[in-house]
Amino acid sequence: MAPAAPAGLASVAVAVAVAVLAAAASAAVTYDRKAVVVNGQRRILMSGSIHYPRSVPEMWPDLIQKAKDGGLDVVQTYVFWNGHEPSRRQYYFEGRYDLVHFIKLVKQAGLYVHLRIGPYVCAEWNFGGFPVWLKYVPGISLRTDNEPFKAEMQNFTTKIVDMMKSEGLFEWQGGPIILSQIENEFGPLEWDQGEPAKAYASWAANMAVALNTSVPWVMCKEDDAPDPIINTCNGFYCDWFSPNKPHKPTMWTEAWTSWYTGFGIPVPHRPVEDLAYGVAKFIQKGGSFVNYYMYHGGTNFGRTAGGPFIATSYDYDAPIDEYGELNTFYFGKRHALYSLHQPPLM
Ligand SMILES: *[C@@H]1O[C@H](CO)[C@@H](O)[C@H](O)[C@H]1NC(C)=O
Ligand SMILES: *[C@@H]1O[C@H](CO)[C@@H](O)[C@H](O)[C@H]1NC(C)=O
Repeated sequence: MAPAAPAGLASVAVAVAVAVLAAAASAAVTYDRKAVVVNGQRRILMSGSIHYPRSVPEMWPDLIQKAKDGGLDVVQTYVFWNGHEPSRRQYYFEGRYDLVHFIKLVKQAGLYVHLRIGPYVCAEWNFGGFPVWLKYVPGISLRTDNEPFKAEMQNFTTKIVDMMKSEGLFEWQGGPIILSQIENEFGPLEWDQGEPAKAYASWAANMAVALNTSVPWVMCKEDDAPDPIINTCNGFYCDWFSPNKPHKPTMWTEAWTSWYTGFGIPVPHRPVEDLAYGVAKFIQKGGSFVNYYMYHGGTNFGRTAGGPFIATSYDYDAPIDEYGELNTFYFGKRHALYSLHQPPLM
C-alpha cells in the first residue's frame, strides 16, 4: 500500500483491486496438478467426441442430449479447416459446418466444450483437415518451422478464436468452452524432424497462448508440450501416462472406444467392459479428464474420408452408433458414480 495516499482512498483502491483480481481468478479456467479448475473447483470431467460435420444439424440436439444422458460433462470436437476455408479467405460456416450453432446447442444442453482447433487434426479426415490450396502456397512446408505455413496456421486459428470470442463462447464470457487444443499428435513428428519441429512446436504454443482465450490449451501426444500447455495422452489405455510437469493434470484426450472402419479390415469392436476397466484404472492412477474418442463417430460425407482405404462409415463402435442410436447403456451409471464421489476423488 502507498503510505502517502489518504487512508480512505487507499483502502477503496485496494478493495477494488482485490475485487478485480477475484473476478479474474474465478472467470478463467485454470488447472493444477490434480485437475482442470472451473469456477474455482477441481473437476473430474467425462467427455466425448462428436465431430459436427460427421452428422447433420438435425441430429445434433439428440446426439448432445444422449451424450448428456450418458453422464458426460464435456463434448469434444475438432475444427475442420478444409470445410471452413475451402478457398483461401473464403469461408463456409453453414449446414454441417455451422460450428457456432453446434457449440450453442452444447451450451443449451448444459455441457462444456473442448475445442480442438488444430488446425491440423488428422481425424481420418481428408488431408488431415488441411485445405488443398495450402499445398500451393509458394514456399510452403507443412507442420514445421516455415513462415508461409505458420502465417496461414495463425490466420485460421486466430479467425476461429475471434469468432468464439465475438459469439461469447468461452467460459469467462458465460460460454461452454473450457479447453482448447493446438496441433495434434505432433510428438512423433518432432522425434523424426528434430530442431525445426521443436522450433515450430514452441512457436505454435506461444501463438496459441497469445490469443488470450483464458482457457487452458492442450497438445495431445506431445511429450515436449511447452509450458503452460498441457500434454495429454491418446490411446486404448493411458494409466501409464504422466504429464511432463508435476503441476499439470493427467488428461486422456482420446480414449479409443474402438477404431475406424477401413476397407479390407474387419469391422472394429472393443468390448465395453475393457474400455470401462481402462477408464477406471486411469482415474485410480489420478487421471481427472477422460474423453471417449468417439462418442458418436458418424459418417464421412462427400469426399471427407482420409485415405487410403478409410470407409465412409466412421461408426467407431461408439456409444452412439452411426445413425444416432444408443449402442450401450453401460456408461451412464459409471459416470454418475464418478460425479458422486468427486470430492473424495479430488
Ligand atoms: C488473414 O489474412 C488476411 C489476408 O489474406 C488478412 O486480411 C487478415 O487480417 C488475416 N487475419 C489475421 C487474424 O491475421
Ligand atoms: C493478449 O493480452 C496481452 C497482455 O494483456 C496483450 O498485450 C495482447 O495484445 C492480447 N492479445 C490479444 C490477441 O488479445
